[in-house]
Amino acid sequence: MSGDRRIAQYRGGRSVTTARAACVIGWPVEHSRSPLIHNYWLKRYGIAGEYRREAVRKEDFSSFIGTLAARGYVGANVTVPHKEAALALSLPDERARIVGAVNTLWHDGDVLRSTNTDVEGFLDNLDACAPHWDRNVTKAVVLGAGGAARAVIYGLLSRGVGRVVIANRTASRAEALREAFGERVRSRDWSSLEKELTDTSLLVNTTTLGMHRQPPLTLDLAPLGRHAIVADIVYVPVMTPLLAAAAARGLVIADGLGMLLHQAVRGFALWFGKTPEVTGDLRALVAADLDAAQSRGQ
Ligand code: ATR
Repeated sequence: MSGDRRIAQYRGGRSVTTARAACVIGWPVEHSRSPLIHNYWLKRYGIAGEYRREAVRKEDFSSFIGTLAARGYVGANVTVPHKEAALALSLPDERARIVGAVNTLWHDGDVLRSTNTDVEGFLDNLDACAPHWDRNVTKAVVLGAGGAARAVIYGLLSRGVGRVVIANRTASRAEALREAFGERVRSRDWSSLEKELTDTSLLVNTTTLGMHRQPPLTLDLAPLGRHAIVADIVYVPVMTPLLAAAAARGLVIADGLGMLLHQAVRGFALWFGKTPEVTGDLRALVAADLDAAQSRGQ
């Protein structure tokens, strides 16, 4: 399906062209920044389209997806708690299958396809913050073992990182990821984490530690080498205590806001036919919105 084409409908004996629409489906969904991002791009590129929020309960998700096209949507983002259900209700690509979660859906003729754009969101943001990082990173440490960790690990392995060490509060979840991803992945006790950092060139936090209203991630970064990179997927606040500590040591950092913006690119391209740019203006717009929400206590 060509992204440039608008949906042509036949109404009252004449053909009318209507704007394309996409949405983010979640419960709750008010907190989603996706409408801000996609509507910014629609305006910037002069595309007559619309991106909306759809608050859909878990028990209604399947029927909502079944009527997505009838509701006028060319595709959608999917957020909590629907990411696993969306996998079962669509035709996922390899990365979505391996990550076990879907965040982007689009119609390809009669087929509802899906992918997980957190993978490229993470990688493209790292490419932007630390160009050619993959030439030097031989070992990465990933904190956490949820869906975000799976996307990050899939991305790191796809870019040839030789060794990925997972540390998680619940050791059995890290162990399950090691089994799923094979021999380049190891799991380590959270308690032996600092020892693990000495020969680590990339540290990624995928836990909720450091997020607004959550405990901070307290980790001594001294064992990391001078050229190490520290990434965080948390974006409220944008400068997490972990990233602030890394920046204070002069390390290169990649923040969760960058990942959020980069993960939105593919969906926009699929639905609206234009590959959008992640610019400083967009970043400032979303950062200001996050700041405002945080100061309202949300
Ligand atoms: P997602 O799918 O978005 O990654 P998740 O599956 O809820 O979300 O994962 C959250 C991660 O943050 C998990 O790795 C979780 O550790 P557990 O598997 O032990 O629950 C981690 N996490 C949350 N709160 C934490 C805390 N206080 N200390 C350490 N890790 C924590």
